[in-house]
Amino acid sequence: MVNIAILGYGTVGSGVVEVLDINGDSINKRCGKEINIKYILDLKEFPGTPIENKIVHDYNIIVNDPEIQVVVEVMGGVEPAYSFVKEAILKGKSVCTSNKELVAKHGAELLALSKEKKVNFLFEASVGGGIPIIRPLNQSLTADEIEEITGILNGTTNYILTKMSEEGVDFESALKEAQEKGYAERNPEADIEGYDACRKIAILSSLAFGMQVDFEDIYTEGISQITDIDFKYAKELDARIKLLGTSRKEGEGVCAMVAPMMINANHPLYSVNDVFNGIFVRGNVIGDVMFYGSGAGKLPTASAVVADVVDATKHLGTNIMTIWSSKKLDLISIKESSH
Ligand code: HSE
Repeated sequence: MVNIAILGYGTVGSGVVEVLDINGDSINKRCGKEINIKYILDLKEFPGTPIENKIVHDYNIIVNDPEIQVVVEVMGGVEPAYSFVKEAILKGKSVCTSNKELVAKHGAELLALSKEKKVNFLFEASVGGGIPIIRPLNQSLTADEIEEITGILNGTTNYILTKMSEEGVDFESALKEAQEKGYAERNPEADIEGYDACRKIAILSSLAFGMQVDFEDIYTEGISQITDIDFKYAKELDARIKLLGTSRKEGEGVCAMVAPMMINANHPLYSVNDVFNGIFVRGNVIGDVMFYGSGAGKLPTASAVVADVVDATKHLGTNIMTIWSSKKLDLISIKESSH
């Protein structure tokens, strides 16, 4: 049996419990061991529910319990998530997280630490919700030099843009719907202004180029300035407006940005609508690869988290993640770039 603890019983945390409930038998078979949720850390109580007896309010109970081998961090935000995750790794526990703020800011350090401690720090759910993209970059595409990653990396804004352009729904109503469906961040400004997509393209760039790409260095523009006239012009040009995160090699450097852009009907990202995300990767030997799927939401995101738990369970005592250097990659400024 492998005992795990979940930090945070919000949208993703409750999704993790649900996925283990729905597919527990097949997941346990794949692990060769039973995954047992021993603790759930949350501020609230959940009386009368099946998780009632697993709830704890003190992280020390979890981190000091030698029976806990995998910690699932789905609280979001940098603190206290960073301190909790670092402590867990130092105590020899693997960590699976959906927290893009944490990975973008401290990924290099936590990966190096997990390698040293022979545990795993896995973060498939931090980019693209349920879409496998971290694992492919870490495993399947390692024969390539990555030349470009361009993606629709935020489900909330893609949902809003789709509703506004295809159904004429106004911005506020579309945002409200996205919030009700559990797509948006607690502070939706992170979605709308592109900060969430910025952290995601920073993570993908760091992984692809092997050096720390600081999200603060990435030129970022959100969708709050888009108006009906923009959709009208896009339609006339047989295009759609999408919030894209893009990172590409230019000579010896890398140029990265997040901004709303017009995508022509013949591009694979044109058909990525609603909450779906699409990530286009160009490698120097494989050519073009396209990843597509649910970019946000409870169960798709939880699916990616639980897949990491399976991986962590199958690789107890062996580190499987490629680290990236904490040395900063200086991006080419947008002005110098050929775009
Ligand atoms: N708010 C995020 C999105 C959640 O809409 O894509 C998934 O990271």
